[in-house]
Amino acid sequence: MKEEHALRKEADQIVQTVEAAGPFRQQFHLMPPAGLMNDPNGLVQWQGVNHVFYQWMPFHTGHGSKWWGHAVSRDWVHWELLPPALAPVYDFEKNGCYSGSAVAHEGFLYLFYTGNVKDEHGNRTSYQCLAVSSDGVEFEKHGPVIYQPEGYTAHVRDPKVWFEAGVWWLVIGAQRLDLEGQVLLYRSRDLREWEFLGPLAGKDATLSASFGYMWECPDFFELGGSRVLLVSPQGLEAEAYRYQNQYQTGIFTGEFAPETGTFSHGEFREIDLGFEFYAPQSFLDEQGRRLLIGWMGVPDQQEQVHPTIADGWVHCLTVPRELTMQNGHLYQQPIEECRQLRGRNASAVVAVNDEALVWQSWDAPVAEIYLEVEKDKSWTVSWRRYFHISYDADDQTLTFERPDLVTGGSVRRTSRVNGVRSLRCLFDCSSVEVFVNDGEYVSTSRLFPEQEEGELQFSAEQPAVFHVDAWELYS
Ligand code: FRU
Repeated sequence: MKEEHALRKEADQIVQTVEAAGPFRQQFHLMPPAGLMNDPNGLVQWQGVNHVFYQWMPFHTGHGSKWWGHAVSRDWVHWELLPPALAPVYDFEKNGCYSGSAVAHEGFLYLFYTGNVKDEHGNRTSYQCLAVSSDGVEFEKHGPVIYQPEGYTAHVRDPKVWFEAGVWWLVIGAQRLDLEGQVLLYRSRDLREWEFLGPLAGKDATLSASFGYMWECPDFFELGGSRVLLVSPQGLEAEAYRYQNQYQTGIFTGEFAPETGTFSHGEFREIDLGFEFYAPQSFLDEQGRRLLIGWMGVPDQQEQVHPTIADGWVHCLTVPRELTMQNGHLYQQPIEECRQLRGRNASAVVAVNDEALVWQSWDAPVAEIYLEVEKDKSWTVSWRRYFHISYDADDQTLTFERPDLVTGGSVRRTSRVNGVRSLRCLFDCSSVEVFVNDGEYVSTSRLFPEQEEGELQFSAEQPAVFHVDAWELYS
């Protein structure tokens, strides 16, 4: 194995000099300079600078022994790529510096991540590891701080750390020996010695029935008076209106009692209705906003056929979103800073009768489109004849449709949507994020349109009026 310094230099070379090319490179989403990107890691605002680390394969577009890539931004719109923060070189991490989180404490940045290790027979061991930095660029590894707990398989990973009630807390995603997914809770006074408190949620802790074989990337925070467990369970069966991706991301909301380390919660609710969204992480910024960034991808789901692979890169992250809790429901909105991207603007009132109507005056492909619609009408809005959003007021379903990457047709459908009043769509060169009713529902997907594929088009079953505002977006 190459020594750490040589490996990091090689990858830093990619950061400094390589920029993959092609029609699907994004304008304002964070993406890897080359190679594969997956989960956002270590989100933290430190000394006024926003740090985003990410799971990265610098040298090819498949999964494997992950690194932590590193990017910083002051305004959330312009990004600077820094040298990779973590490379998998030591025995306790040799098959990947897997996902984790960051906290700032007494002038240092602490990264917690999972050291993934496999032996020659493919048997796995996992360690929760610590790396510390005084300048936010170079990280010194301190090795494992948590070893595999008894009663669990080696699928224990993705530590998320926070400070509350005078102590440090940590959650990790876990799989019990009987292949039930859980989240485990730990506590520490000094960020180095961790006490295992037991399962926080999952089968037999807070659920009586099975709910997936592994829970990845947990996050646990207070929002608007509720306690939220954000988690990405694997192994839920697809249903007509739920769980349509390969793996899901959602929340349980309830109450946390720090004295006993117990959480009581309601039902799991997915937080994204699109084709590509997984393993998000949140953090509190210096203004006290709870911000969330997700991976615009799903493991094992059509990843191998993304057309960007031919250009030497794959996947990107979502725009940062601000989270709020309103009447017990999680709302997500693109953060205000995204408005800095707005350029040329046009507005219109579009009245549709029985014929589909094309809005001639708009053809910019990288755009924010805001639509106000009449709440109880049924309609379809199509983007470049390629991506379709439909609402059916009779059965209260909201549908997103794009050409499938493999078979030629694909939909994601959600029921019990009690009226659509507005849609805010952020289109980048190869993605769309749709915020319905000011963030009550969100749908995140990659799109790979052929060039020149038409404009914005409206149709409705009965006469309907759309108020449209559009901005071309520039970074
Ligand atoms: C989620 C995940 C994490 C893991 C990481 C490895 O996408 O599987 O559980 O730490 O990706 O890259």
